[in-house]
Amino acid sequence: MKPLLLAMPGAEALAAAFSRHLDCEAGALTLHRFPDGESCPQILPEPRGRAVLLVAALDHPDDKLLALYLAASVARELGARRIVLVLPYLPYMRQDAVFQPGQGITARHFARLLSSCCDALVTVDPHLHRILSLDEVYSVASEVVPAAPSIAAWIRDKVANPVIVGPDGESEQWAAQVAALVGCPYTVLSKVRRGDREVAVSQPPSQLLTGRTPVLVDDIVSTARTMVAAAGQLQQVGASAPVCIAVHALFAGDAYAVLQGAGVAQVVSCNTVPHASNGIDLTPALAAAALRMLAAAPSA
Ligand code: R5P
Repeated sequence: MKPLLLAMPGAEALAAAFSRHLDCEAGALTLHRFPDGESCPQILPEPRGRAVLLVAALDHPDDKLLALYLAASVARELGARRIVLVLPYLPYMRQDAVFQPGQGITARHFARLLSSCCDALVTVDPHLHRILSLDEVYSVASEVVPAAPSIAAWIRDKVANPVIVGPDGESEQWAAQVAALVGCPYTVLSKVRRGDREVAVSQPPSQLLTGRTPVLVDDIVSTARTMVAAAGQLQQVGASAPVCIAVHALFAGDAYAVLQGAGVAQVVSCNTVPHASNGIDLTPALAAAALRMLAAAPSA
């Protein structure tokens, strides 16, 4: 029997793109909201004995997590033999340490909750920094799809004489990999964050930028203040207007408008979170990873 593909609300377009690369049946997942705000997922056809691929766009995760947990749990209750969550953006990975007294490592708690309702997980470039691997916090199998090959292909096609700029130390893993695949130089700035929207970054070395188009690459753009600060420093040293590339386009509040107004040439993102800036398609790679996760499934 073909796997049943289900989309959480808001992930329908993502699931449709994903389904073009997979031999699966599109099921219907509806989420009834009771007047008091509780939700009741309904899955048709019932997934008895079948593998389920459940696709969700987890930007604004607190608004969506309970419904995802309930939908996966209902799929299990209805007899799904294997549940693979396809979460192109995996949230909560940045809270990977205690930064202030009284806080906790919420990445762990989030991971425990998701691990309790599925058998496997497919995602794109989670923010692995102090947590080095998803296996440290997720108890289910997972596969990480790297965005770098698709980002590098986009840059090769669209940007003449690029130089990759990582706006902070944590972005080095993406900047270095993308630069190696493009075959161009890269540099990484250092960042100090004083608040959610208060960010300062160091100046890039101007000699590296001469005659090149800077391409800012970061995994997550949330308030966009990191990218804006980096774009400001590039301007200070007389570099060309940068192309900004985000793996995960969260763009909270006014972030997209603020970045577009910061003297940048273009803003492009991967389609892990549905957004107007999406221009780099990762669904073929996600579908291939999901197939591997399904193949690893125990037979019914
Ligand atoms: C954190 O280190 C991430 O890699 C990003 O740099 C960060 O999430 C960007 O946040 P914002 O867009 O709010 O400056």
